[in-house]
Amino acid sequence: MAGRIPESFINDLLGRVDIVDVIGPRVQLKKSGRNHKGLCPFHDEKTPSFNVNEDRQTFHCFGCEAHGTALGFLMEYDSQTFPEAIETLASMVGMEVPREAARGPKVDTELYDVLRAAAREFQRWLRGGEAAAAVAYLRERGLSGEVARDFGIGLAPEGWDRLKTALASSGEQKLVDAGLLVRQEGGRRTYDRFRERIVFPIRNTRGRVIGFGGRVYGDGQPKYINSPETEVFRKGQELYGLYEARRAQRGLQSVVVVEGYMDVVALAQHGVTNAVATLGTAIGQSHFETLYRHVNLVVCCFDGDDAGRGAAWKAVDAAFPVLSETRQLKFVFLPEGEDPDTIVRQRGREHFEGLLDSAEPVAEYFLNRLQTGRDLSKADGRAALVELAAKDIRRLPQGGLKEILINDLAARSRMDASVIAQAVREPGEMGVEYLAGDVGRSGGRRDFGNKPLLKYVVQYPQLIDSMDARLRAELADSADPSLLADVVRQIVEEPGMDTGTLIASYQGQDSHTELAALADEEILLTEEALALDLEREVRKYVAVRQGAALSRRARESGSVEDAQRRYSDAKAQQTL
Ligand code: GTP
Ligand code: MN
Repeated sequence: MAGRIPESFINDLLGRVDIVDVIGPRVQLKKSGRNHKGLCPFHDEKTPSFNVNEDRQTFHCFGCEAHGTALGFLMEYDSQTFPEAIETLASMVGMEVPREAARGPKVDTELYDVLRAAAREFQRWLRGGEAAAAVAYLRERGLSGEVARDFGIGLAPEGWDRLKTALASSGEQKLVDAGLLVRQEGGRRTYDRFRERIVFPIRNTRGRVIGFGGRVYGDGQPKYINSPETEVFRKGQELYGLYEARRAQRGLQSVVVVEGYMDVVALAQHGVTNAVATLGTAIGQSHFETLYRHVNLVVCCFDGDDAGRGAAWKAVDAAFPVLSETRQLKFVFLPEGEDPDTIVRQRGREHFEGLLDSAEPVAEYFLNRLQTGRDLSKADGRAALVELAAKDIRRLPQGGLKEILINDLAARSRMDASVIAQAVREPGEMGVEYLAGDVGRSGGRRDFGNKPLLKYVVQYPQLIDSMDARLRAELADSADPSLLADVVRQIVEEPGMDTGTLIASYQGQDSHTELAALADEEILLTEEALALDLEREVRKYVAVRQGAALSRRARESGSVEDAQRRYSDAKAQQTL
């Protein structure tokens, strides 16, 4: 890998480049004073609101708020990566980009040459006399010669040493290092890895061939084989089709991630030129990092089967740490048994683009999926949802998406956004400890449970009588050792109890003084307002309490699922 570009060089370079020279050839600009105006290339418009400021060396669009420097413009407009944009600017002013010594071992650039030569041989074979069956197969799958050419598709013919012979001058070991030859176990002999297969060259974003995927075109197993990882081929971060997508669409805005090579190629055949696929591995964080360097929107569209749906859920996990307000992720779910290839062939481009347009944003998908099978009319269902979701939301960087999720989760769980935000900040510290085991009244000061709530209850015990019976039962839960729960239990046992009687029943206990003090504290709400407030506060309390119980169990047992089961078991036993 190339080394870092020194900071000093970048500053020097930016000092020599004029932004007008960079943007001028790409956007028609009209000079007006020290400014240059034009039609914004980043959004559709009829009157120019795109400004280039020569003094400040920046551009700004008053229509869509796009703005930045010459470097940013190139990255956005030509979808160049940072080093690519630097290279472009440097060549404009005739400077050579220096590189600091690379940290890792220097990449053997001869591998690129060998791989490129191999791709050329494969393509030649697909045009040759042995290609009838492979060509027929590609035709049958609906691919034109043009798309085959765009993707550099080739043929590895029958035989064990065709490529080995064709590229003999490169040296046997080099071919092994490039993943093109397989060395027999423990042996000296080598043979072609790709035989009697259609081959898809995998190119990095600079267009260099770094590996191949090969598909049988008759019946044979395995259906696909891929190049092994080599010095230049890292499956964890490379994506098939990204180079081709960037080449097809200037200013690429979004990509569709699919599972297979054929999906990418079939979509391109139908005019959907922004599909990419991982290389027979699950999509991981590094893939997302690669993608978000080039686009702001990634739509995952995996196969309509269990594996595909599983892959979507894993993708959420992999993407979470790198998502932000501007880095969006969405999901399309295909009908059972279909993949993007079959869908676009049957229903066409417009239908497929319709699916993309109505893709489910990650926030919705994530919460919907966690919510499945949970009864949100029950406090423990809501608490479990909060607990599970908080664990993942915590991993999101600060920003819009995190807030959206917190608010959405608050709405679904009927809790205050501040409670959710707290749960997200502090793992397993959602509130009072609960199910502590020791429910007795022995010694020491008792936990209030929730002091403001306790004050309400002590002063207006009649509000407990008129409260929703299920909510009241939740609040009086016998496993809650707090003074609040205890007071509520007293009231439930003796409907119509007044404050004086209630406090008197604690005569001789430590809590007596505390309750008496609470009874004297001022409450500024009317009874009606208080009734409403009380209900909300009780819901919150119950949910938080159960969340705390879950997370405590989870810490003990390692898994939230487990904790949930044990919690419901405990509840079941109590009600027997
Ligand atoms: P088609 O049958 O050609 O339509 O393939 P597909 O793209 O629908 O393939 P599938 O969904 O079965 O597989 C998706 C991707 O997984 C492929 O593009 C390969 O990268 C990988 N894959 C599938 N089968 C195999 C296999 O047998 N071995 C390996 N190593 N990878 C496979
Ligand atoms: Mn398929």
